[in-house]
Amino acid sequence: MSTTPLLELRGINKSFGVVHVLHDVDLTIYPGQVTALVGDNGAGKSTLVKAVAGIYPLDSGEYHFDGKPVTVHGPKDASALGIEVVYQDLALCENLDIVENMFLGREVKTGPVLDETTMESKAREVLASLSVRTVKSVRQSVSSLSGGQRQTVAIAKAALWNSKVVLLDEPTAALGVAQTRQVLDLVRRLADSGVGVLLISHNLSDVFEVADRITALYLGRVAADVATKDVTSRQVVELITTGSSSDLDGASAPSATA
Ligand SMILES: Nc1ncnc2c1ncn2[C@@H]1O[C@H](COP(=O)(O)OP(=O)(O)O)[C@@H](O)[C@H]1O
Ligand SMILES: [Mg+2]
Repeated sequence: MSTTPLLELRGINKSFGVVHVLHDVDLTIYPGQVTALVGDNGAGKSTLVKAVAGIYPLDSGEYHFDGKPVTVHGPKDASALGIEVVYQDLALCENLDIVENMFLGREVKTGPVLDETTMESKAREVLASLSVRTVKSVRQSVSSLSGGQRQTVAIAKAALWNSKVVLLDEPTAALGVAQTRQVLDLVRRLADSGVGVLLISHNLSDVFEVADRITALYLGRVAADVATKDVTSRQVVELITTGSSSDLDGASAPSATA
């Protein structure tokens, strides 16, 4: 699999005031693959996602997209490249229906008038293309949906814009077994359609089930970037909790800071 990475970050640093959160982080996302980003609470996963999305400016480091250096100054630059993010705190509007949520801020209009027919059919189309069958009507209000259905809608929304890279911050954290199943299936289908997916998850069984690669962050440094098939879950637990795994080839232990 020697495909060009869709997204490649090199040597990323990010501080908030005196708190240095990301240290020389490298992150690579390939088309058609699910890359899992794992790490303990506070490791810097959400910060990294927000840096990719242009929400946080980088202090230093290189940002490459589709093999070319790019500058991402804000969320608009990221979405123009085809990068979409589903945040941990979802950001769907309860009182709006599925179509309204999917097109919020990016409504399709004919002159000044909303083109409801087009938006409705595009919403149906993207749900169908991802084989989402659990949603009865795209005119259902989001408040009537289960947690799993909301995640499904949020992910489908991210897939709606011909996205090339979709970043999912803990999409299964609040879900039960059956709903987690649906969301993981959707994540896999999204990658199979050619999208490069970054999946943040605490749940190692989810990670092992759906991810092609695993990037482990420990205290803001990359502890390992490995193919899922080359690691055991015991090794990943070690990487998450100690930053290194003694018997893992290719895992770079973060240099100890004196
Ligand atoms: N906006 C911010 N201002 C200051 N510190 C922040 C901010 N966002 C995150 N941090 C700090 O950065 C570290 C990493 O946080 P975060 O990226 O949310 O970790 P994770 O998602 O892996 O749990 C934490 O110590 C957190 O307190
Ligand atoms: Mg987080």
